[in-house]
Amino acid sequence: MRQSSLVVVAMRLPIDDSVAPDGACEWRRSPGGLVSALHPLLRNTPATWVGWAGGSGPAPSLPDVDGVHMHTVPLSLEDLRDHYEGFANATLWPLYHDAVEQPEHHRRWWEAYQRVNQRYAEATAEVAEPGAIVWVQDYHLQLVPGLLRALRPDLRIGYFLHVPFPPPELFMQLPRRAELLHGMLGADLVGFQRPQAAHNFAQLATKVLGVAATDRRIAVDDRVVRIGAFPVSIDTAEMSALAASAEVAERAERFRRDLGEPERVILSVDRMDYTKGIEQRLTAYSELLASGHVKVRDTVLVQVAVPSRERVGQYQILRERVEREVGRINGEFGRVGEPAIHYLTQPFDRAELAALYRVADVMAVTPLRDGMNLVAKEYVAARVDDTGALLLSEFAGAATELSQAYLVNPHDLEGLKQGLLSALQADPADVTTRMRAMREHLHRHDITAWARSYLSALDETGSLVDRLPATH
Ligand code: ADP
Ligand code: G6P
Repeated sequence: MRQSSLVVVAMRLPIDDSVAPDGACEWRRSPGGLVSALHPLLRNTPATWVGWAGGSGPAPSLPDVDGVHMHTVPLSLEDLRDHYEGFANATLWPLYHDAVEQPEHHRRWWEAYQRVNQRYAEATAEVAEPGAIVWVQDYHLQLVPGLLRALRPDLRIGYFLHVPFPPPELFMQLPRRAELLHGMLGADLVGFQRPQAAHNFAQLATKVLGVAATDRRIAVDDRVVRIGAFPVSIDTAEMSALAASAEVAERAERFRRDLGEPERVILSVDRMDYTKGIEQRLTAYSELLASGHVKVRDTVLVQVAVPSRERVGQYQILRERVEREVGRINGEFGRVGEPAIHYLTQPFDRAELAALYRVADVMAVTPLRDGMNLVAKEYVAARVDDTGALLLSEFAGAATELSQAYLVNPHDLEGLKQGLLSALQADPADVTTRMRAMREHLHRHDITAWARSYLSALDETGSLVDRLPATH
C-alpha cells in the first residue's frame, strides 16, 4: 500500500463522476465549497486523498490526479442512506445551520455514522506514512480524528469544519453530543470558519466534557488541542485571470445579448439548499416586481440553482417549492421572450461561471446561514474592472471579511427588498470603492494564505508549508 506524508480525508473524492474512456479522471470543481477550496492547494502537492468515489458497492481503483493519489472508501446503499443522507445531511447539516429546517434524530443513523467514520479512519491509517500529517474535513467525519488517534498515535491530525458550528443551545439537542465533541478533540488542531464557532466549541467542551478550555486551547487527557478560526478562501488570482481572459469577456457579452441587453442583471448561484435563502429572495424579487420598483424589461434575475442531495426529503420539497414559485413569477410578470427570472439548474464550467459573474451588475448572495460562501468571493475576484454590487447576507461567514458588501438580513423581507434596490441603484463611485476594498482583501487572503495559516499551526516543523505555492 502506497503511503503519503500528507493525507486529506473528506467524505467525497474530488473527482468527476465521469471517467474518460482512457481511464483519466478530472478534478470535480463543482458544485460545493470544499473541493473548490482544496483544489488549488493540492494541485501541486504530493498527497493522498481518502474519500468516497460516488455510487455504492466495491470501491473502484482510480488513477492519480495531478500527483494526488485517490484512495477510495466503499459505501453501501445503506451507508449512504443512514450516514450521508441521514446523520450528516438530515441531522447535523440542519442543526449546524441554525435549525432553519428541523433536524431529525434516528438511532440507526448514529450507528451508521460511527461505522462509516471507523471505515474512513482505518483507510487513513493504512495510507499515512509514519508521522504523516492528516487533514480531516467537514461534518461528515467528526469522529475520525479520535478514531484515527487510537489507531495511529504517531500522526499529526488536523480537523477543519467548513460549515458553521452552532451555539450550545442548539448543539445540546444532539443525543450523542459528548461522542461528537470527543471525536473532534482527537485532532491536534480544530479549525473553524469564524471565531464565534471556536468560542461555541470551547464552551461546549467545558459544559459537556468538563475539560478546561479557552477559545484557543483545550486540555484533553495529557494533550493540548489547539482551536481557532481560519476563514477559507478561493484562488483569487486564478478567478481574476479567467474573468479577464478574452474568451470569458466574449462569453459574457454573449450572455448579455441572450438576456436581451437589459439595463441591470441580478445573479444568484447556489446549490439548491434551504440554507441559501432562495425562497426568501424570490419573494423579495416578486414583491419588487409587483410594486413596480423593478421592471422586467429593464432588469432580469438569473437564478442558478444546481440540485443537491436529491434523495433527502427536505431538498425535494425545496426544489418543488422553488420551481413552483419561479413558474408563478414568470407567469405573472414575464412577457413573451422576456421572462422575469432565468432559472437554470445545470452545472457550469469555470469559464461560464466567470462569464456569468462578469455579466452580473448585482450579485445576490443571501443565505440564511452559511459557513463561508465561496460564490461571494468568486464574484468579487471576477470583477476585474472594480464594478459590481455584492448584496451579501450578514449570516454568511464571508460577511466578516467582505464588510464593504451591501449587507442584508435575509429574514427581514423589507430589508432584503431595500437592500436589493440599494444595490441596483447604487452610485457607481460607491460601488467601485467597495469593490476595490474587497478585491484588495481577497488578493491578500486567498486560498494559499488559508492553507498556510492552517498548516503552519498544525505542522510545527514547517516542512509542509514550505511545499505550498506562494500567495499571489
Ligand atoms: P456550498 O459549499 O454550500 O455549496 P459555496 O458557495 O461555498 O457553497 O461553494 C459553492 C461552490 O460550488 C463554488 O465554488 C461555486 O462556484 C460552485 N458552484 C455552485 N453552483 C455551481 C454550478 N451551477 N456550476 C458549477 N459550479 C457551481
Ligand atoms: C458543502 C459542504 C461540503 C459538501 C458540499 C456539497 O460545501 O461543506 O462538505 O461536499 O457542500 O455537498 P454534497 O452533499 O454534494 O457533497
